[in-house]
Amino acid sequence: MAKLLSKITLASIAIAATVAGTIYFTSASGNNNTITNNNSAIANETSSQATLVTVWDKETEPNYSGITEMTVYRSPSCGCCGVWVEHAKKHGFQIKDIKTEEMEALKQKYNVPTELASCHTTIIDGYVMEGHIPADDIKRFLSEKPQMAGLAVPGMPIGTPGMEARDIKQPFQVLAFNHKGEIEVFKEYQSY
Ligand code: CU
Ligand code: CU
Repeated sequence: MAKLLSKITLASIAIAATVAGTIYFTSASGNNNTITNNNSAIANETSSQATLVTVWDKETEPNYSGITEMTVYRSPSCGCCGVWVEHAKKHGFQIKDIKTEEMEALKQKYNVPTELASCHTTIIDGYVMEGHIPADDIKRFLSEKPQMAGLAVPGMPIGTPGMEARDIKQPFQVLAFNHKGEIEVFKEYQSY
């Protein structure tokens, strides 16, 4: 826990961490060769990408009528968190933006599973939303109101909202979790 968190919060977007079997490239300015060598699927995706408009710009939950006020806790030194906040605003969320150095304690307070930790932690409608989750996935979750504690995108995969680096898009999963430690896939982005 401490190790992963300090990596994420201290180094912001300049580290590579492996969480739940997925390799996260966290160098926003990293070169293509490194990424290509490690994941040819990403290279294919990159070359077929015709536009810089990301999948996150599409409104997939246009009829969302749930709560829009959310509280985002983030480190003052984490730039990608701020970009995610802008993404959430763009999708209609109103943000209470709280900058704190106590992210690790905060994640413990809200029972974020250690292996699902990312950078910022969002509280909305009694649920915990960990990391760079696409706003529309939060809307769908809040519409369905499953018997889960919240959602998480562990680590900081490149290509998630707030973690854009040119047109590089790593496959990633949005995971739902409960306080019994059970985790299930809520949405999967393999090729997008
Ligand atoms: Cu981040
Ligand atoms: Cu963040």
